[in-house]
Amino acid sequence: SNEDSLRPQRLADYIGQKDLKAVLAIAIEAAKQRGEAMDHLLLYGPPGLGKTTMSLILATEMGVNCKITAAPALERPRDITGLLVNLNPGDVLFVDEIHRLNRITEELLYPAMEDGRLDITVGKGQSAKTRSIPLPPFTLVGATTRVGSLTAPLRDRFGMIQRLQFYELDELTEIVLRTAQVLETEIVREGAIEIATRSRGTPRIANRLLKRVRDYAQVKNLGVIGAEVAAEALELFQVDQMGLDWTDRLLLNTMIDQFHGGPVGLDAIGAATGEDRITIEDVYEPYLLQIGFLQRTPRGRMVTDKAMKHLGY
Ligand code: ADE
Repeated sequence: SNEDSLRPQRLADYIGQKDLKAVLAIAIEAAKQRGEAMDHLLLYGPPGLGKTTMSLILATEMGVNCKITAAPALERPRDITGLLVNLNPGDVLFVDEIHRLNRITEELLYPAMEDGRLDITVGKGQSAKTRSIPLPPFTLVGATTRVGSLTAPLRDRFGMIQRLQFYELDELTEIVLRTAQVLETEIVREGAIEIATRSRGTPRIANRLLKRVRDYAQVKNLGVIGAEVAAEALELFQVDQMGLDWTDRLLLNTMIDQFHGGPVGLDAIGAATGEDRITIEDVYEPYLLQIGFLQRTPRGRMVTDKAMKHLGY
């Protein structure tokens, strides 16, 4: 798909996440030298920062395949066992939203990750027996937005636990320029900076905004995308100068108007705005905390003066 063609294929083409890349470059090289699968890896952090992309790159760098799944798709025991027994030696198995595994599936993963075997129950009731099936060596890459929701036994079975960070403005600018090239869209650096500035530190958002700006420039026949065209388009799509969208502003305005700016609990914010509390916590809150628009206190969330000023209070 188009989404996939925008992903960098190699570690050298992956912009940003410098520390993570350094750690993984060593792990990849060491595993390759030994002719082994890479150790299991847990990637965590806000959505859209490149966890899936990094997993695909790992597989490419190791010269193996990457199977992609997500915890909600692993409902029955045979879902995970089917994936595991069909792996080729050294393959990467990417499990998104790994904090959402059910207990039975999670417990099948323990011996698989630790000892490379699958312990399955054959038969029912009195005649039930456990059988142990050896698995090919593999690398489990787990991804989650909420590392705190993983059980300790699962977390302990990852040899590397790495956090993805929000991207810097210059990194996002490079990503927008790179994506524009892939999409064969004409853009100047100032236009890319304007989009990057409003992308909440997130490549997925940067690429999404670039596509919207590209539509706008095309339909209005505006030619090469500069800062002004980008700003104009993003105003139309209600993405403001800090990159806040309609929902970000709804959350902050609701906290100010109905809760005196806080402290207020997530459930109360959720009820007043109609947004799901998990979505607020995983998707909206991290960037608002990062830019100092929100504060977490023991008694709930508070809107900061900086946010008040930005919203014109
Ligand atoms: N596209 C999306 N994320 C990217 C990244 N981190 N580097 C390069 N291109 C990207």
